Amino acid sequence: MKIAIVKGDGIGQEVIPPAEKILRHFLPGAEYFDVKVGYEKWKETGTACTDDDIKKLKSADAILFGAITTPPDPDYKSVIMKIRHELDLYANLRPVKGDGFDIMVVRENTEGLYSGIEEIGEERSTTLRVITRKGSERIAKAACELAIKRGSTKPVVIGNKANVLKSDVLFRDTCIGVCKSYGLEYKTMFIDALTLDVLMQPSNYDVIVTTNIFGDILSDACGYLTGGLGMLPSANIGDAHAFFEPVHGSAPDIAGKNIANPIAAIRSAGMLLDHFGYCEYAALVEKAISASVSMGVCTKDLGGNYGTKETGEYILTEIIKEE
Ligand code: NAI
Ligand code: MG
Repeated sequence: MKIAIVKGDGIGQEVIPPAEKILRHFLPGAEYFDVKVGYEKWKETGTACTDDDIKKLKSADAILFGAITTPPDPDYKSVIMKIRHELDLYANLRPVKGDGFDIMVVRENTEGLYSGIEEIGEERSTTLRVITRKGSERIAKAACELAIKRGSTKPVVIGNKANVLKSDVLFRDTCIGVCKSYGLEYKTMFIDALTLDVLMQPSNYDVIVTTNIFGDILSDACGYLTGGLGMLPSANIGDAHAFFEPVHGSAPDIAGKNIANPIAAIRSAGMLLDHFGYCEYAALVEKAISASVSMGVCTKDLGGNYGTKETGEYILTEIIKEE
């Protein structure tokens, strides 16, 4: 197995090493290699992510990614968007777990309002929202497969705004068709009311499938349920590639201080293990994280006074203890 490691910018440099260490602990036989992309690289070379970098990323079975700073420079092209498109990582999986709830937001990752088709003017700017049957079908299938894998007893929730956005009629109805073909129960909900209800009654939800920007906002909002951005991992999955990253960004406000919470990154490594069938290892990672947090061995954002490194080391020690 080949695993590409992209630390990226800011706290990516700090939270990825402990996550990589845990991966190496479980998969010592895998081949690891670093790929440097991001803003720092852009400042040095004028290119944030070259075609050769994409080639290297494509050669990996899995990618563990930190975060990248997006400067407010109009010439700077989003590296994340480029990678998602080039590797066709169409399913963005964002689990949100806490006391009494375990939600999986399945966000379509390649089309919708992030189509990249835009006309920017002084007086009028437009962004085209693209929904395709193929795109909706494959994300709905990913959601249904997950519902089965998770042994979900709750309906697959289809988050949409089909009452206003006619493009969402295609999304909603395609998802309904896929759920039916899997013999799974489903429920359609409008994304605005859904977002509030998830926050108020999280235990009512399991798999939620939705379009690109709705899933982006919904999963960040769900961060409220779990102690903030430092806790939230994600996976970006395509048919040929798999990419794992914390939901948070490069956090320049706390970078270089050894205070960033490494749990989101470590959980992303856990999702990698789970994705490749090492479910027991993934469960060990979760257990060690719970132990560490409940012992108060955590970073400032969770009320602790441990550093990024120290927290990561403690979690690894807990893993070794549990084995
Ligand atoms: P951010 O997620 O980097 O930070 C938001 C807030 O949460 C900050 O106050 C930060 O200190 C805190 N935070 C984030 N991660 C944390 C952690 N692990 N532990 C403790 N606190 C944490 O989002 P922001 O500030 O909007 O963006 C900063 C930069 O990151 C921007 O350049 C943005 O474009 C980029 N970004 C990159 C992403 C990616 O590479 N996937 C995703 C989101 C933002
Ligand atoms: Mg976001």
